Amino acid sequence: MANIVILGAQWGDEGKGKVIDIFTQKVDYVVRYQGGNNAGHTVVIDDDEFILHLIPSGILHKRKICVIGNGVVVDPRALLDEISMLKKRGIKVDGRLLISESAHVIFPYHKRLDELKEQKRKKIGTTKKGIGPCYADKVARSGIRVADLLDEAVLKEKLTANLDEKNAILDKTYGAQGYSFDELYNEYRGYAEEIKKYVCNTTVVLNDAIKKRKKILFEGAQGTLLDVDHGTYPFVTSSNSTAGGASTGTGVGPTAIGKVIGVVKAYTTRVGEGPFPTEFTKDLMERIRRKGKEFGATTGRPRRCGHFDSVIVKHSIMVNGIDEIVVTKLDVLDDLDSIKICTAYKFEGKTYTDFPTNSRVLAGCEPVYEEVPGWKEDTTKVTSYLKLPKNAKNYLKRIQNLLKTRIVLISVGCERKQTFSKDA
Ligand code: IMP
Repeated sequence: MANIVILGAQWGDEGKGKVIDIFTQKVDYVVRYQGGNNAGHTVVIDDDEFILHLIPSGILHKRKICVIGNGVVVDPRALLDEISMLKKRGIKVDGRLLISESAHVIFPYHKRLDELKEQKRKKIGTTKKGIGPCYADKVARSGIRVADLLDEAVLKEKLTANLDEKNAILDKTYGAQGYSFDELYNEYRGYAEEIKKYVCNTTVVLNDAIKKRKKILFEGAQGTLLDVDHGTYPFVTSSNSTAGGASTGTGVGPTAIGKVIGVVKAYTTRVGEGPFPTEFTKDLMERIRRKGKEFGATTGRPRRCGHFDSVIVKHSIMVNGIDEIVVTKLDVLDDLDSIKICTAYKFEGKTYTDFPTNSRVLAGCEPVYEEVPGWKEDTTKVTSYLKLPKNAKNYLKRIQNLLKTRIVLISVGCERKQTFSKDA
């Protein structure tokens, strides 16, 4: 098997956690390459539910090595809480978790600025985990990396410079209290002592592993439409959640990646603000949200739900080079009389079949729908594609034809066994 990237092809929450868990069985390393603890990957194993925010979900499999790559932003408090949760539940972490020394570190001022910016400007609806402000420092070349955390002198120098700047912004722009150097320095040196056993040059580790023909799974967080370059900017996260991020966020060259798998929900959801052309009206929204348990795994916020949108998924297939698709949560549509699929957008008399970049078009466009009959049967116990109701098969076939990309797996529930291949 080739090294693979598995990522979300919509606005996140596509059910990647479960899909990654299935593919993990075939690989040696599972790697996060972007985002931070804004993500929430849910995996259910034998009725036991795990929600992971920062550590790759491969940690739930014995003997897999899990890597937090240089493209990730790490909140050490959240990381240590996750490690402790896993250890309490009997999962071995030490010796299996590696953290890049080049990953950037989230500080309390990042979280505070995230909150304050959300209050002051037009809301993006962030998770308030400090993700955007931490990436902003990275790009501004003032960020503090994991390697800096481990070096007392460097941490002192960089934290002093950062606090001079951040405390001034907090005071002058927001009238908010700043942070004391001593408190933050001592707190973060404490974290450094606890995490140092996991820290290494993960780029070298991964490239050596590739030389030894070990297999790697790159685990995308968020989704393509939340990518800072290819998503619904500015209503996006601050990293490259697309396949290219797997390379820049780990130091593994693109030629070492053999396959990209896109995970799509059988309908569409998004959390936070921003355009959502196929958003349901109130009644259907509540029905599907309840049935699909569409509440954020990180923030608990109700997710916005909508019809399947082939325009955004075609865009995802293009910008990620997606080879194969996994469709999740098909069962959530079981009760519907008919199902709408968006095939294009219309705006001021013009039809768009390509995802429009202009935010005014995206915010004001009308979706063009085709409607297919529902199947009105429980699919949660279906164990093979052939046993799906005819209309469910027709729905999947129509999606596949519109996307011109092969559907390889279908998921009809949160357990591992509620998944089957399309070809079987
Ligand atoms: P941030 O990543 O916290 O800055 O949030 C930016 C946008 O990305 C907001 O709309 C969030 O709701 C969304 N977002 C961030 N992480 C996730 C995720 O894991 N799933 C879905 N949406 C997310």
